[in-house]
Amino acid sequence: MRMRKKKYGAQRLQACGDYILGDGINDPKTVFANEKPTHLEIGCGKGDFICGTAAAMPDVNFIAIERIPDVLMLAAEKVKAGAYGNVRLAAFNAAYLADRIAPHSIERIYLNFSDPWPKKGHAKRRLTYRAFLDIYKQILTGDGSVFMKTDDLQLFEFSLSELKESGFEIRDVTYDLHNSPYAEGNVMTEYERNFASQGKKINMLRAYLL
Ligand SMILES: C[S@@+](CC[C@H](N)C(=O)[O-])C[C@H]1O[C@@H](n2cnc3c(N)ncnc32)[C@H](O)[C@@H]1O
Repeated sequence: MRMRKKKYGAQRLQACGDYILGDGINDPKTVFANEKPTHLEIGCGKGDFICGTAAAMPDVNFIAIERIPDVLMLAAEKVKAGAYGNVRLAAFNAAYLADRIAPHSIERIYLNFSDPWPKKGHAKRRLTYRAFLDIYKQILTGDGSVFMKTDDLQLFEFSLSELKESGFEIRDVTYDLHNSPYAEGNVMTEYERNFASQGKKINMLRAYLL
């Protein structure tokens, strides 16, 4: 996601401090002071999905991460404006998830419209490359899952293959989410709304460790 540097970005992010994850390793049980399941969105963009999903699932804790602080700041301002007490956010690269999230503490990971990195030489940067999946396995519970949506068919096929190779079982797949039974209750992201308005089909998969 390209974005011009925001004026006062650091101060605006600081103003959302109650919703920002602390440094070091975070255990959701301590962060949220409850035993509810915790879901994680990687690359949350401007936060529409995390806000919509947190509102729809008040009995779940949500953590959203985004590598660009100015983008995370926009998501944090939405979370603060909606006073979503079941959401925390942090600006860091998914490569560092195991350094920031307690082992086996996340029930579900959402990957929504991740950057496709179409060049073969850039495959290792894709968020479903096996090295990233190995990191996810460190923070997922034993029966944890990865839910993915993308308009990009090449990334989708690559992800199906990487997930299977990494020991995930693919249980649900659709190549046209908005015209499938999975459309009910689907919370759209910013990118998804844009792609849908262009008539693009959305691919979705759900992959499980158990
Ligand atoms: C194409 S945008 C999609 C944003 C949002 N999920 C949506 O669907 O509207 C991908 C987002 O993932 C973030 N991102 C890409 N690689 C990341 C990584 N390794 N760790 C954390 N965030 C990442 C980007 O900065 C960008 O905001």
